[in-house]
Amino acid sequence: MTAQNKGQDASPLRLGIAGLGTVGTGTVRIIQNHAALLATRSDRPVAISAVSARDRMKNRAVDLSAYAWEDDPRALALREDVDVFVELVGGDEGVAREAVTAALKAGKDVVTANKALLAIHGQELAELAEANGCVLRFEAAVAGGIPVIKTMTESLAGNEIRRVMGVMNGTCNYILTRMENAGLPYETVFEEARQLGYLEADPTLDVGGIDASHKLAILAAIAFGTRPTFDAVEIEGIERVSIDDIRRAADMGYRIKLLGVAQMTGRGLEQRMSPCLVPADSPLGQLQGGTNMVVIEGDSVGQIVLRGAGAGEGPTASAVLSDIVEIARGVRMPAFGLPASGLALPQPARTAVPAAYYIRLALTDKPGALAKVASVLGDAGISIDRMRQYGHQQTAGVAPVLIVTHKTTPEAIDHAIEALPGTGVIAGDPVELRIEEV
Ligand code: NAP
Ligand code: HSE
Repeated sequence: MTAQNKGQDASPLRLGIAGLGTVGTGTVRIIQNHAALLATRSDRPVAISAVSARDRMKNRAVDLSAYAWEDDPRALALREDVDVFVELVGGDEGVAREAVTAALKAGKDVVTANKALLAIHGQELAELAEANGCVLRFEAAVAGGIPVIKTMTESLAGNEIRRVMGVMNGTCNYILTRMENAGLPYETVFEEARQLGYLEADPTLDVGGIDASHKLAILAAIAFGTRPTFDAVEIEGIERVSIDDIRRAADMGYRIKLLGVAQMTGRGLEQRMSPCLVPADSPLGQLQGGTNMVVIEGDSVGQIVLRGAGAGEGPTASAVLSDIVEIARGVRMPAFGLPASGLALPQPARTAVPAAYYIRLALTDKPGALAKVASVLGDAGISIDRMRQYGHQQTAGVAPVLIVTHKTTPEAIDHAIEALPGTGVIAGDPVELRIEEV
């Protein structure tokens, strides 16, 4: 199904905005500041009828006096004077899900920035939207201000997508780059991020890789024409990334990123979110601070790289407005780029695409120790590409050893990592990280 034009309509497009936090107030502010621009671009005025949040008395630094107030977003969704329900509350359950469902059932178009809701209930909501002749748009849900949804559904519509990957959680990228630049341990930088207000109320959403996996599941659905399957994403957060690994990886020419990768293979759809090494001089390796980057590979276009602010009031509200203007213009896109009934349930596949791996271990000072390590790798069918041994540390009596393997399978790496402690020549657990080809 392609975009359908409903035809122009000079009457105002009337919005009900639920949620007046960072993104909600940003959205109100753009609509107020750019009223004339939005009307020209949409060929009709864009107007706010009513708003909703928890606390009516809170000072939000925007003038809300011209809008009706609803305590309950579900009531807002059903108002006669609301054409488009804009959900900026958040959460995959509760009031956000209920209000979006109510809006779609009532025949209202919906714009949301809620990645958790889309990743988990996207199929059900897309079907509901279609059944009721509504659109469900969510440009802001993935990578904030980066126009990745529209790029994939519209600009790359002529491509078979091969792979989509990226850094889609700004907080994790801030933590990892700050650790490297300041030489600080994870715990210290995590605390800094908390003080700066970068972390979600539940920080495991960020550092546990869950927020980024919500975004990856949405992108995978659009890329491969499948239902979003968040449950099938293999997720590992950044909690085990140490300053030691960041330094050693840099020595070998890499940076560590929380990287999401979705790829359709002969065995099914691989979706993984994990700390990976990428070449330090690659666009992903160069990404600093809270910035996001999405890399898309299509059969005709080749590789394209989108970079920008993945969060914050202005960038996220900018993406919300792109959906509102699209609806105001009369463009009717299916939620995930295809009719919801046409989205296949993908076969989930565990990561099997071969890659080079980084292994760090602490080698005890015994004759033949290195040979034993090499033998375990050889037995697992793993060939060493590069290796570096540092001097023995006086206190611990061990020498850090870094190994970069040739391409091998995750299965072979798991096998070797399990076998290494049995050699009796290493102290502690070895660390392995995938080196993603980017
Ligand atoms: P936020 O600052 O925490 O704001 C949430 C808003 O929802 C608040 O205004 C809150 O009301 C309201 N709310 C919460 N529970 C409610 C309820 N039961 N009834 C009515 N209103 C309720 O969140 P945000 O950062 O703006 O995020 C909003 C959405 O955008 C989320 O889905 C988030 O994942 C997504 N998003 C955010 C960013 C970002 O940079 N912040 C980026 C991309 C996507 P009160 O103000 O009265 O407490
Ligand atoms: N916690 C998210 C991040 C906010 O750090 O990227 C934007 O989705």
